[in-house]
Amino acid sequence: LVDTLVDRFGRVARDLRVSITEKCSLRCTYCMPAEGLPAIPRDRLLDAGELVRLVGIAVNKLGVQEVRFTGGEPLMRRDLEDIIRGCVHVAPHVPLAITSNAVGLEHRAQGLALAGLTRINISLDTVDRDHFAALTRRDRLDSVLAGIRAAKTFIGRVKVNAVLMPDTLDGAADLLQWCLDEGVELRFIEQMPLDADQTWTRDQMVSAQELLDVLGARFTLTPTGREDPSAPAEQWLVDGGPATVGIIASVTRSFCSDCDRTRLTAEGTVRSCLFSDDETDLRAALRGNASDDDIADLWRGAMWNKWAGHGVAAADFVPPQRSMGAIGG
Ligand code: GTP
Ligand code: 5AD
Ligand code: SF4
Repeated sequence: LVDTLVDRFGRVARDLRVSITEKCSLRCTYCMPAEGLPAIPRDRLLDAGELVRLVGIAVNKLGVQEVRFTGGEPLMRRDLEDIIRGCVHVAPHVPLAITSNAVGLEHRAQGLALAGLTRINISLDTVDRDHFAALTRRDRLDSVLAGIRAAKTFIGRVKVNAVLMPDTLDGAADLLQWCLDEGVELRFIEQMPLDADQTWTRDQMVSAQELLDVLGARFTLTPTGREDPSAPAEQWLVDGGPATVGIIASVTRSFCSDCDRTRLTAEGTVRSCLFSDDETDLRAALRGNASDDDIADLWRGAMWNKWAGHGVAAADFVPPQRSMGAIGG
């Protein structure tokens, strides 16, 4: 029997995002500190079997309809293919996705597709080598571009995510042109105050409107709205279409009232919102003798108490303790 993850505001969470590691091959300044995140002790990290069991509960008891693995960087786990294979087994009809930086993906895209991965979103903020190296603190642009091409070949639909930063705004039109040439879908993202160093300020943040001004100088953009009401991105046709560009304006046009997400951290807690430090532990229940129904009840309780949304634009906003790298976006 399916009893969904509904909250006090009537929102239903049908989209599960699972962080599976804090490790990453890059160090994007808006996400991770230069030294990386403190390692999660091995015994706290969920193993493949535990992850698969939780995904099975989410889909079969809680009505989740889409599952996305994030990190850190999900490719840092050697058992990602096993996790995906296991999920296909317990939830055969549910789309399985990852959000990845694509470093090294070239060598794994085919195996991931064979395991059952159906969708991939890849983070790429600039196609300028120097800007890429400065932003990610690693000189891995070639590996990322090769990864994107492999993903196109083996996985199919590829979306590229680009976080807007002052240093890369000038290159936004070049990035769009590159994505148009490659036939991949591009979405720009307003930077959220989730960097580990907590340097975000509203004045520094590049807004959707500033981006539209920059892109408008080279392309004709026609707004077409959201693909579906809970999609984070609003879309524009580029030069009359069919290609589109999306913008995820989490800050200037927040979409919390339509949010349909539930999150699991790599240590097995339910996180009801990106910005809320209120977490509910499932790991103890999972490793005790709790039944699937017991775990589903804990999860429902965690989501019932989800707040209305973040107050990023408010003067009294306090960033969450976990940075983006430890939540997974
Ligand atoms: P699709 O299913 O392809 O639409 O994926 P997605 O956009 O949900 O996932 P992705 O991992 O590509 O995330 C893109 C951006 O949306 C990232 O910057 C996320 O942090 C942001 N995002 C995802 N979920 C939320 C959310 O619940 N709230 C806010 N404010 N932003 C979110
Ligand atoms: N604000 C907005 N998006 C971010 N991402 C990482 N950090 C931030 C941030 N501070 C993006 C990544 C990835 C997705 C999961 O979240 O680039 O595409
Ligand atoms: Fe790694 Fe993604 Fe964070 Fe960049 S945004 S440091 S690629 S987890």
